[in-house]
Amino acid sequence: MGFNDIIDRRGTNCSKWDVLPRVFDVPLEDGLSMWTADSDYATAPCVIDAVRRAADHGVFGYWTDYSSYNAAICWWMKTRHNWEIDPDWIITAQGLGNAIALSIDIWSEPGDHALIFTPVYHEFKMKLQRAGRTATEAPLKREGDTYVLDFEEAERRLTGKEKLLIWCSPQNPSGRIWTPDELRAVAAFAEKHDLILISDEVHHDFIYENQTFVPMDIAAPEHRDRLVVLTAASKTFNIAGMKTGNFIIPDPKLHQQVKSRLVALNYEANRLGYEMVTAAYSPEGAEWVDAQMKHLESNRQIFDAGINAIPGVWSMPLQSTYLAWVDFSGTGMTYDEISHRIRKGARIAPSPGPEFGLGGELCMRFNLATQNARVEEAVARLQEAFKDLQ
Ligand SMILES: Cc1ncc(COP(=O)(O)O)c(C=O)c1O
Repeated sequence: MGFNDIIDRRGTNCSKWDVLPRVFDVPLEDGLSMWTADSDYATAPCVIDAVRRAADHGVFGYWTDYSSYNAAICWWMKTRHNWEIDPDWIITAQGLGNAIALSIDIWSEPGDHALIFTPVYHEFKMKLQRAGRTATEAPLKREGDTYVLDFEEAERRLTGKEKLLIWCSPQNPSGRIWTPDELRAVAAFAEKHDLILISDEVHHDFIYENQTFVPMDIAAPEHRDRLVVLTAASKTFNIAGMKTGNFIIPDPKLHQQVKSRLVALNYEANRLGYEMVTAAYSPEGAEWVDAQMKHLESNRQIFDAGINAIPGVWSMPLQSTYLAWVDFSGTGMTYDEISHRIRKGARIAPSPGPEFGLGGELCMRFNLATQNARVEEAVARLQEAFKDLQ
C-alpha cells in the first residue's frame, strides 16, 4: 500500500475518524479528519510482516529477553540521530502518553507545577491537570516565520512551585527544530531552577530536507543528571495503537526511580508492540521513513500554497512533523467564527489551537499525514469557506 492509497478508516473504531460527529460535530460521511497525530496510510511492510510472522506462529504467551528490541533502538538512534545510547538506559512504557504521565507522577507531587513552553502538545497540560498538578505556561515568541524561546518571560511566570520542565523537541505544534544552542539554554534553565528536564522527542524522525535534529542528550550532556528523554516509533511508523514507547535515561538514579515504579506496578509492555518496533527500527524501516518524508514534503507544499493564498491566513513553515500550525489572526475573526467556518463550512476537524496553550488562541493544527488527494480537498474546502476574504 502506498502513501496515496486511500484507506477508509471509518467504522474501524479509529479515534481519528470515528469520533468526528460526536467530538467535532463534523459528518462522518464526507468530513475530513485532520486532528490527532496519527497517519492515514499503512505502516511499513517490514512492520506488517512482523505481525504476520507472529500471527502465523499463533502463540502469544509471555516474553523474555528484550535484547533484540533494545539493540534495534540503539541501532536506530545511532544511524538516524547519531546518538550513541546504552541499552541499559532504555525502559519501555505503554506509549509516550503513559511515559509523560509516569514522569509527572514520579518527579512531582500534587500541588506542584511544571513549566511548559507554549503553544505545545495539549496533553502536557491535560496530564498535569488530571494528576492534580498545574502547568506554568511560558509563551514562545513569534520571530519572523518561526518561534523562539523567551527565557525572561518564562522567568517572570515561574511560581516557585515548578519541579519539572516538560519540553517538546521537535515542537508539536509548529514543527520547530531547536538548535543545539537553544537546547543547551533550555537545559541550563532547568539546572538554574532545579527542574527535572523531560524531553519529549517523539517527532524526531520527521525531519524535512536541509534540517538537522539534535537530541537533547547530545546538545547538553553535562545536564544528564536531570535529563529524561522520551521517544517512540508510534508516530514515525503509525503504530500508536500498539502503546509502546520508551524512556531513555542515562542517569542511574533517575533510571532506577522509573524502573522501581514500573516493577511495583507490575508493568510490562505489549509483546506485539516490541515485535513491531524491533522490525521498524531496521534498514527497511529507515527506507520507508525516507519515502514517507518525500510524501509529507509534497503534502506540506500543497497545503502551504493553498492556505497562504487565503488573505489573513498563514501556515508556519514546517521544519519537522506533519502537524501544520495555521494562524487565522489576520482574518480579524473570533475563534468561534473561525472554528464554525472550518467545521460547518469546510467539514474539517483540525485540532483546536487554544488547547495548545498561550499563543494558540486564533490557531488551528492540521494533520497532513494523509493522502495528497485529501490535502488537496481540504485546501479547496478551506478556500471556499473563507472565500469572502478574497
Ligand atoms: C509530543 C507528543 N508526545 C507524546 C504523544 C503521545 O505518544 P504515544 O501515542 O506514543 O502515547 C504525542 C502524540 O501526539 C505527541 O505529539
